[in-house]
Amino acid sequence: MRTPVIAGNWKMHNTVQEATDLVRELKQNLSGIEGVEIIVGPPFTALCAVVSELGGSNISVAAQNVFWEEKGAFTGEIAPGMIKETGCSHAIIGHSERRQYFGETDETVNKRVKAALSAGLIPIVCVGETLEQRESGNTMNVVKKQIKGSLDGFTPSDFDSIIIAYEPVWAIGTGKTASPDQAQEVHKFIRNTISEIAGRDISQNMRILYGGSVKPDNVDEIMQQEDVDGALVGGASLKADLFTRIVNFKK
Ligand code: 13P
Repeated sequence: MRTPVIAGNWKMHNTVQEATDLVRELKQNLSGIEGVEIIVGPPFTALCAVVSELGGSNISVAAQNVFWEEKGAFTGEIAPGMIKETGCSHAIIGHSERRQYFGETDETVNKRVKAALSAGLIPIVCVGETLEQRESGNTMNVVKKQIKGSLDGFTPSDFDSIIIAYEPVWAIGTGKTASPDQAQEVHKFIRNTISEIAGRDISQNMRILYGGSVKPDNVDEIMQQEDVDGALVGGASLKADLFTRIVNFKK
């Protein structure tokens, strides 16, 4: 009922040339795949080239962040309209690396999500606990606060356009994936939280992706979980063969 989404977050990797080479290969490998939404997330500098290379394909493109103002004296920021103009359809917002290194908070995530929606971009909103928070038994509290803060003040139609990514910080880039049961437990909790905020129908339609060391050898069991609707892939999205296998997950 919920179309799965496999999205690659390239982070700060790939020059324009490298990005173009990678998507050229992906376009070939993944043509004809149906029933999965495929997204790649290059750095800002490669967005135009990647969108152009992927024209007419079944692969969409996401920016890795978006600012909330339309224009002005905000040196170094990129406006939602500018991202939309590149031909991007999605924007990753509130990734834990942004929260951890660049002072992102639920409040700024909320502003970015609002701005992205106004520009017609589909936000992929990231949440997830640190190892310390998990070990002290605070996972659900942390995730609930992030969801409520990041998604405060949205209408039902806004919710229909939003994708959530649950990325436990301790599983990102560490090779340590959450077990399928751990992922399912938090995904279900997120869906229930969305149901409390926006109602059952919206929560049932909401895609919730898992992120954190997703690889060809663990994607199948993660995707088999009832409330896991896709993956946000870091490292393994930089290699065409690995990402291709992940998109071809077996449910
Ligand atoms: P890795 O797949 O490299 O652990 O990264 C996950 C991630 O942060 C995706 O946004």
